[in-house]
Amino acid sequence: MNPFSTAYTQAEIAAYGALPARTVGDVELRWLDGRADRDTEDYLNWPMIARRMPRYPALFVRGAVWMSLVPSEVQSCYVPIRAAHGVVGTAGLGLGYVPLRMAAKRTVKRVHVFEVEEDVIRWFRGAFAGRPELDKIAIEHGDVRALLVNRRFDVVWMDPYDTFIHPRVEEDARQVRARNSIGAYLFWYLERVVLDALQMGEVVPALTAHERAFLRRWRHTRHELFADRLPTFWTPRVPPDRQRAIFDAIGRPWRAGPPFDPGTLSRTQLDLLARVLENCHVTDDRGDACA
Ligand SMILES: C[S@@+](CC[C@H](N)C(=O)[O-])C[C@H]1O[C@@H](n2cnc3c(N)ncnc32)[C@H](O)[C@@H]1O
Repeated sequence: MNPFSTAYTQAEIAAYGALPARTVGDVELRWLDGRADRDTEDYLNWPMIARRMPRYPALFVRGAVWMSLVPSEVQSCYVPIRAAHGVVGTAGLGLGYVPLRMAAKRTVKRVHVFEVEEDVIRWFRGAFAGRPELDKIAIEHGDVRALLVNRRFDVVWMDPYDTFIHPRVEEDARQVRARNSIGAYLFWYLERVVLDALQMGEVVPALTAHERAFLRRWRHTRHELFADRLPTFWTPRVPPDRQRAIFDAIGRPWRAGPPFDPGTLSRTQLDLLARVLENCHVTDDRGDACA
């Protein structure tokens, strides 16, 4: 199914499950009502692909959104879920959406989750008691940066982040890779870094098969509200020096291309870029859902 379609978001919300709204200590699960905040970006674009959405679950901790299944979040989990195999390590738990979807795969033996908020773990265990995926999910309470040492994982997906391209992305990658034995190291927002690099051309990374398939779908999908294909709405967000630093930190090979020329952006893209920059105090924040 096309990850950039509303039907995909709907199917993923259905697979997650129709949990009751519930509060456990500092944690509250709410179902929100089919409207994304106007400043919410589509994962790879501006603006949202679907302004009217299905009802979706959102996890609040001390009144702030921790994670929600809006289209941008669901799209951002597509590649890591597909890349998961063998024994997977991930932080943190949030809604537990990614651990559940990974554990449901035949090719995944175990998903080991590191989560710092005890009430998030208590809420998750109560909400999903009896679900078969839980047999494959182990949850460890504490700070992933202290706990993820001397472990062996086929894939690590780091998602403790509350902003796009968090300042600790490179340091986390270097530390986790140096202290553990890891096959593939992925983190939340990596596909956006890869896409910006490909579009800008100054840093040309090697791609995984899952990234290639994901970005091919993006390139050929038409926006659900406008006639244009999705690349019309792309604007750069991750500068080339940060792309280079991130690819080096995660051990991803890349080669140099010609310097990026902003003159190659269309008027639409330049207008969108100006809006992104004007709204960066909002769009850099991951707490993106509001009812
Ligand atoms: C965006 S959510 C993760 C969403 C999750 N991937 C899902 O599928 O729902 C981020 C989670 O990381 C947790 N977290 C933040 N910093 C952490 C840390 N240093 N160690 C472990 N967990 C952390 C937060 O409490 C939160 O539950």
